Amino acid sequence: MANKRYQVDYEGEKQTVEVNGELLTVWPENLHVQNVVDSPSIFITWFDDTQKYHDKLINKALELEQDKSWAHRMPIGGSKIRDLEEWGMQEADLLTARATEFFARATGRSDVLVTQSWANISRYSEYLTAHSHTDCVASMVYMLNWGDHVEEPPYSGQLSFSDPRIEYCCPDEPDRMTRELVPKMRDGALCIFPSELIHYVHPYWGKEQPRITVAWNFKFSNG
Ligand SMILES: [Fe+2]
Repeated sequence: MANKRYQVDYEGEKQTVEVNGELLTVWPENLHVQNVVDSPSIFITWFDDTQKYHDKLINKALELEQDKSWAHRMPIGGSKIRDLEEWGMQEADLLTARATEFFARATGRSDVLVTQSWANISRYSEYLTAHSHTDCVASMVYMLNWGDHVEEPPYSGQLSFSDPRIEYCCPDEPDRMTRELVPKMRDGALCIFPSELIHYVHPYWGKEQPRITVAWNFKFSNG
């Protein structure tokens, strides 16, 4: 299942996706996009119609997590479930359409290629170590289920950037990373960032619900 590539048929900003008999707008007109930082640019937006598709997606992710042909258990903990496009769900197709639109808008390009997509499921104490994504231009993380709201320790399950190429991370001296950048993720948040930026996920301390995200890697099909 791994390393498949999907040519996304980009159809522009008015595109809708049918979910449970209802046409949902891929990119609602009133959507607010925040420029988290400039140069390199990180953007985030938040969708508020999540009650129409989150429950089914969460249930599907948890079902696939039990199937070894779909799910890969990572050495540091957490599970990766690949190929959102093959889940056979309108709800998953809606998310990919939204991610594709975000990439097209952020880059001004329409030759969009999804090189990888997957979901991550994390449970108590699980985390993701610092990494970049290879062979892609931009990456995206969507918060499907924040999980439990944990006050202490702080940053439970938070996506975080720690990279000297981000000026915000170097308030004291250029190129000396002393501050991490934490985008305002919540259920329905979609964050796009240059794939080379170093990021990680803080340990998740929720004991009741799993934390579930969806991610994509993008590049240009015309190079
Ligand atoms: Fe990542």
